Amino acid sequence: MLTQLLWADDTAIRVGGELIAEGKLVGFPTETVYGLGGNALDAEAVRAIFAAKGRPADNPLIVHVADAEGIDAFCVPNPTAERLMEAFWPGPLTLLLPKKEVIPDVTTAGLGTVALRCPKHPAARALIRAARVPVAAPSGNRSGRPSPTTARHMLEDMNGLIPLILDGGPCSVGVESTVLDVTGQVPVILRPGEVTREQIAETVGDCRVAGSVMRPLREGEAAPSPGMKHRHYAPKGKMTVVRGRDAEKVAARVRELYDASENACILCHLDHMRLYGDRRKENLGADPEEGAHLLFAALRKMDDMGVERIIAEGWDEAGVGLAVMNRMARAAAFDMEEV
Ligand code: TXA
Ligand code: MG
Repeated sequence: MLTQLLWADDTAIRVGGELIAEGKLVGFPTETVYGLGGNALDAEAVRAIFAAKGRPADNPLIVHVADAEGIDAFCVPNPTAERLMEAFWPGPLTLLLPKKEVIPDVTTAGLGTVALRCPKHPAARALIRAARVPVAAPSGNRSGRPSPTTARHMLEDMNGLIPLILDGGPCSVGVESTVLDVTGQVPVILRPGEVTREQIAETVGDCRVAGSVMRPLREGEAAPSPGMKHRHYAPKGKMTVVRGRDAEKVAARVRELYDASENACILCHLDHMRLYGDRRKENLGADPEEGAHLLFAALRKMDDMGVERIIAEGWDEAGVGLAVMNRMARAAAFDMEEV
C-alpha cells in the first residue's frame, strides 16, 4: 500500500474523513502526539488498527470525539466527568466512563469502560467531524516505539501500512493525554499528561495518582490500565535516569556512567549542557514543558544514531514533570538513580 503524506488542509481532511467512514485508517495530528485513527464503531476497522500497530489485543483504544455533545450515546457520564469536560475539553484529558453497547468490545479490549477524549488540535476535530463517527486512535507508532510527535516520525513507523497521514506540524504538547478514571468517588490518574493532578483537584476537589505511575507493577498486582503492563517507549539503547536536587552531583554521576560506557549519549537539561564538555549529548529543554515536547524526538534520534547507552537527567515530578518522568521511567525500564 502506498502511504500518502498530505498537509492537513480542508481538502486532505475531507479525503481523510471519507477514508475513515469507509473503514480505512488515517494518521492525524493531535496536540499531544500523532494518532492512528479508524471508525471506533466498526470492529473490523478497529482490528486493523491493532494489526497496523502490532498492538496486543488486551490494550484498549481511546475514542476521540469532536465535542462533548452527544457523548452519552457512547458512555454513561456523571457530574464529575461533566465538570472536567467543561474545564479541559477540547484538550489533553482522557476520561474513563462506563461504556454503552454501540462501542464494540474490541475497541475497549473487552472492558466495561470506554476512554473518551476531545483533542484540541483543529485538524483532529475537523477530521472527526468529516468522518461523522467517533474515531478510535492510539498513538501512531508501532507498538514499543516512542510516540510520533511529527508526521515524518509517524511515516517512519506506518509507511506502507495505511493509506494516508495528515501533516499538521509538530505536536505542541509532545506526551500523550492524561488518562483519568472518573468512575469512582475520587478521580484517579492512570497515565499523567499535560493536564495535571493539581489542575484536576482544583476543578473537582480531589484527585489521586495510581501507584504504578512511577514504579513497576508488583508481582500479582492488577494493572488499573492495561497499558501499564506493556513495556512502552523503548529506545534501542539501555537507558538510566539520574535525578537529585544538586545539579553538580547529578552531573558527576551522569559523567561517571557515560565514561564507563561505549557509544553513549547524555540527555540533559539545556542549562546543564556545559557540564558535560565534549561528551555526546541531546537537549531535553529548559523546563519540564519543553522536556515533554522534546523527549520522544530525542529518543528516536538516538535510535537512528545507533546509541547503545542513554544517560538522562530527570525532572522534578511536580506538574507536567510527572508526565515526562513517567515516560522516561518506562523508557528506562525503571532504571532510576537518586543522588
Ligand atoms: O494523547 C493521547 O491520548 C493519544 C492521542 C492520539 O490522542 N493517544 C494515545 O493512545 O496515547 P494509546 O492507545 O497510545 O494510549 C491509550 C492508553 C493506554 O495506556 C490504554 O491502556 C489506556 O489508555 N486505556 C484506554 N482505554 C482504557 C480503559 N477502558 N481502561 C483503562 N485504560 C484504558
Ligand atoms: Mg501509545
